[in-house]
Amino acid sequence: MIDLNLPVKTHDEDRQGEALMLEQLPNKNNGRKLYIESYGCAMNFSDSEIVASILSDQGFETTTDFNKADVIFINTCSIRENAEVRVRNRLKEFKVAKSKNPGMVVGVLGCMAERLKSKFLEEEKLVDVVVGPDAYRDLPNLIDQVDSGQKAVNVLLSREETYADVTPVRLNSNGINAFVSIMRGCDNMCSFCVVPFTRGRERSRDAVSIVKECTDLFEQGYREVTLLGQNVDSYKWQKPKQNDEADQQASPAEADLEGSAGVVNFARLLELVALIDPELRVRFSTSHPKDITDEVLYTINKYDNICNYIHLPVQSGNSRILDMMNRTYDRDWYIDRINAIRRIIPECAISTDVITGFCSETEEEHQDTVSMMDYVKYDFAYMFMYSERPGTLAAKRYPDDIPENIKKLRLQEIVAKQQQYSLVRLQAQLGKVQKVLIEGYSKKSDQDYCGRSDQNAMVVFPADERFKPGQYVNVLAERCTTATLMGRIVD
Ligand code: SAH
Ligand code: SF4
Ligand code: F3S
Repeated sequence: MIDLNLPVKTHDEDRQGEALMLEQLPNKNNGRKLYIESYGCAMNFSDSEIVASILSDQGFETTTDFNKADVIFINTCSIRENAEVRVRNRLKEFKVAKSKNPGMVVGVLGCMAERLKSKFLEEEKLVDVVVGPDAYRDLPNLIDQVDSGQKAVNVLLSREETYADVTPVRLNSNGINAFVSIMRGCDNMCSFCVVPFTRGRERSRDAVSIVKECTDLFEQGYREVTLLGQNVDSYKWQKPKQNDEADQQASPAEADLEGSAGVVNFARLLELVALIDPELRVRFSTSHPKDITDEVLYTINKYDNICNYIHLPVQSGNSRILDMMNRTYDRDWYIDRINAIRRIIPECAISTDVITGFCSETEEEHQDTVSMMDYVKYDFAYMFMYSERPGTLAAKRYPDDIPENIKKLRLQEIVAKQQQYSLVRLQAQLGKVQKVLIEGYSKKSDQDYCGRSDQNAMVVFPADERFKPGQYVNVLAERCTTATLMGRIVD
């Protein structure tokens, strides 16, 4: 295990005196109940745990029943139009709850808050507070403002904020898997994508704080961490130079963390987290085809506890469309990266994201996406129809000119294709022994356990008293559907 008793300077250190004084005062929020609901990507779910932490320091307790809440937060997603529609519909339900309890505070957090800013207050009268992803430290003040009868907004984006020193309060946790945010924002400008506008510039979180959070999770019994970022391969962190002489004498652990050049890249970070303990599984998302290096692939292959699973969104199999999407790679480049994965990690599962019906996409170009699926034979895919997002490069430059029915037909075609390959992939695992981390009882039966294989396949098998959730078992895969392997524990 790595010794992490390193001097970590946090944003809050300068304010410790102030925090101590506050702690001595009776906290007016003690016992107030917070309900928080999350939409969108894992990053949003992870952010909600930061929000819960910031508010639990203020005396709030979380509740899972919004009717009993004093504060309702909805952490929102803007990625496609229907993600926003879902949020608006949910707000209608909160409106009913608020009509019964007028003191209730309703807040919109996350990407939709950032995109719409104070417009939200005009559009949705029940909303009291609008807070963007980089402003969560301000939540206690904003709630105070609402308590004093005002509406409150903070949607400032930051170039530095990573919440590195905030220990997330795990929500809906099974005590086994946890998300750990390693970076924020995105500097890529994919023309279809709203994320650079809602999450701001890319910044990497302090590696020391990441390894410490993962070590603490392991010590609390967690057995799997998923390192999160919009583009994990561009993770880069360097310990700030210190002038103090004492600080210059780095401990062995510090030297280990920094590596020879003093820079921690993603491959190095993966390694540092993998070294915490061989019993801690490491996953990560999302890799970007332009940035994923062979060094990362060799690191995955070197450590048994870094899972053999890579999510590598292709978006389209056609180079002209990829260029219009501003993905900065072409079909050949993507295929080269797939070949590198197959060569360096032969057993690696690969999943992807695909968009159908992007601006001006012809049937022939769509068929390039289909043939890419035939080439890679993805284990899993998330597939979407293009949804124009206001303010994005594509919305400004290109008409959204593929009719809805064509987008849908293309989507149906690739969904059917993917079903076929998901089945083929799982069938290839039959007769093989899978190392499964037990996550709990299966949704369908309390006689069965479920968990994931190294390659991220869901595995269901008869529960056995000798093993508990959080333990690893060897499961012989005997049958499968398109989504699940089924089998039995073997020694
Ligand atoms: N950072 C990740 C993606 C995050 S968004 C990456 O670069 O791969 C998750 C997925 O949503 C994207 O991969 C894309 O397939 C899809 N998506 C993003 N914007 C979209 C839009 N405007 N319409 C349809 N799908 C979109
Ligand atoms: Fe969006 Fe592209 Fe950034 Fe992914 S890499 S979040 S798709 S801009
Ligand atoms: Fe959605 Fe924001 Fe994530 S737009 S996908 S919640 S970064």
